[in-house]
Amino acid sequence: MAGQRENFGSRFVVIMALAGSAIGLGNIWRFPYMVGKHGGGAFILVYVLCCLLISLPVFFAEGILGKSTRLNPLGAMKQVAPKWRWAGYMGILAAFVITSYYSVVGGWSFDYLVRSVFGGFSGLSFEASAGIFRQMSSSAWECLLCFFIFLSLTATIVALGVQKGIGNFSKVMMPLLFVMMVAIAVRSLSLPGSRDGLDYLFKPDFSKLDLPGIAAALGQSFFSLSLGVGCIITYSSYMKESEKILPTSLWAAFFDTVFAMLAGLAIMPAVFSVEGLEPGAGPSLVYETLPVIFSRMGPVIPIVFFLAVLIAALTSSISMYEVVVAWLVDEKKFSRRKAVVAVFAGALVLGSLCALLPKVFSACDFATSNIFMTLGAFVFSVVVGWKMPKTVAAETFGSRIYPFVHFLIKWVAPVAIAVIAVTNLL
Ligand code: PHE
Repeated sequence: MAGQRENFGSRFVVIMALAGSAIGLGNIWRFPYMVGKHGGGAFILVYVLCCLLISLPVFFAEGILGKSTRLNPLGAMKQVAPKWRWAGYMGILAAFVITSYYSVVGGWSFDYLVRSVFGGFSGLSFEASAGIFRQMSSSAWECLLCFFIFLSLTATIVALGVQKGIGNFSKVMMPLLFVMMVAIAVRSLSLPGSRDGLDYLFKPDFSKLDLPGIAAALGQSFFSLSLGVGCIITYSSYMKESEKILPTSLWAAFFDTVFAMLAGLAIMPAVFSVEGLEPGAGPSLVYETLPVIFSRMGPVIPIVFFLAVLIAALTSSISMYEVVVAWLVDEKKFSRRKAVVAVFAGALVLGSLCALLPKVFSACDFATSNIFMTLGAFVFSVVVGWKMPKTVAAETFGSRIYPFVHFLIKWVAPVAIAVIAVTNLL
């Protein structure tokens, strides 16, 4: 069985696929805003520390689980720590739920790409732009149609398989995505007033950094690195035997962080170049403010930007979709095609509810990013740190620094996650 498992082929493809999962809407619409809100450079410092000491060890733990078992999250948990198998189920459920609501937002970016190709934003005022967003997000058929198109694109790539679909798509699209973001960042930095944007992003203000800020940095790094739902387990199960976890994970996390900064450099200087404008977060930033500002920079910029958002969203959504497909294929003995159709049918129902009912949308977002991911990340590191024989973990990891990594996985990550989660709840 293990011998027949598909693999990504080369190291470059593994890194692009992992980076593709990590780089997504989280980098574009959450990271830049959070940095500004929680103290600029001070937040970036804490974010990087959280990544190095907590999130990267969890990333490694998921990598070890996937590569050693060559299975989906549930199969991996059943093999390594059967009593904790519920965390495997939880991860798969979370991946399914995220696929559904993420595809709704992915659909909006498709909608906005089409609008920008037809010049729909040129000469627009901020009020008119907000009106367009309101009209789009409340128009049932438009939302559903774009959601359907986005989900179909995701399903098609996943149906093509690990190497031909996910691997090929990631290795072409990820470099392109970087080039597009660099181009926008350069253009945006050349605008008058861009300095204020840089100050907002990078000037450290430790007084703004409180406990919720630290918890936000940790939560953001989990979301951004796709942790806690089994994406990294699943993708690592498609690594070749000879592949190494350390370099592939480090490169993926590095690209994810660099891309988040690039998105900040593309967005904030442009926002601050307009007098009196304050950056918001989430949908309002990406779909109300940015179309206006970017279209003032010429007709091509909005097209490039929304194409970038669409690609970033797609490479992430295929990684969540694949988690559920891998489970159906490994555990339920579905063919890949049948699994893709089954997930499509389920996501169509839940995603449509998310598209039509804002309450369902925010409940799905809240439950997955605040509860499931944190709990999943905690369990995956505990299982590798405490349940898996250390020799097996060390051998799978395949680097001399494993004893140090093991300490981070066994003690630092779970304790820090628990402390930050509990203090934040109190
Ligand atoms: N990391 C993705 C982003 O930043 C989101 C994601 C979460 C992807 C969980 C897969 C799993 O947008």
